[in-house]
Amino acid sequence: MKAVYPGSFDPATNGHLDILTRAARVFDTVLVTVARNPAKTPLFTMDERMAMLQVATAGLPNIEVHSFDGLLIEFVQVHGAQVIVKGLRAMSDFENEFQMALMNKKLEPTVETMFMMTANAHSYLSSSVVKELARLGGCVTGLVPDVVEEQLKIRFAEEYGGRKKG
Ligand code: PNS
Repeated sequence: MKAVYPGSFDPATNGHLDILTRAARVFDTVLVTVARNPAKTPLFTMDERMAMLQVATAGLPNIEVHSFDGLLIEFVQVHGAQVIVKGLRAMSDFENEFQMALMNKKLEPTVETMFMMTANAHSYLSSSVVKELARLGGCVTGLVPDVVEEQLKIRFAEEYGGRKKG
């Protein structure tokens, strides 16, 4: 069975990697797909986010990294997947995820959305919190894959250097 794990992944955290690793044990193939979300201004480009996911998932043979622009359900249909996998943290995730799952069900009744509870250790993690921490010089070791930590350091060093020059 083929599943799609969508998200902004700006950048991927160890919470995302935990869901991906567990999904890869359940499904034959998992397409992790990076969304262009017009409502958000990303820190990393689509290509950068995909490249980091490629490195972070290199040890998981049944994971493919993709991107999409537009409706998620169309990506799912085009790739012949049967399931959308989502991670759920606290109650704050629930309302939005519930609404999206129902809308996707209305658009394509044969596709199921399945939720995985995030591991306790990652329940407080989000890409936004990680970016804020890194931007302010905090340590993100253990919160994100090594490749993401490196890229965050580079990005914020550039930003800081740029500001100093300006
Ligand atoms: O990591 P995020 O930002 O929470 O991911 C949300 C995402 C991109 C998976 C979600 O917004 C999405 O599926 N967007 C695509 C547009 C779509 O199909 N929306 C749902 C039906 S209207």
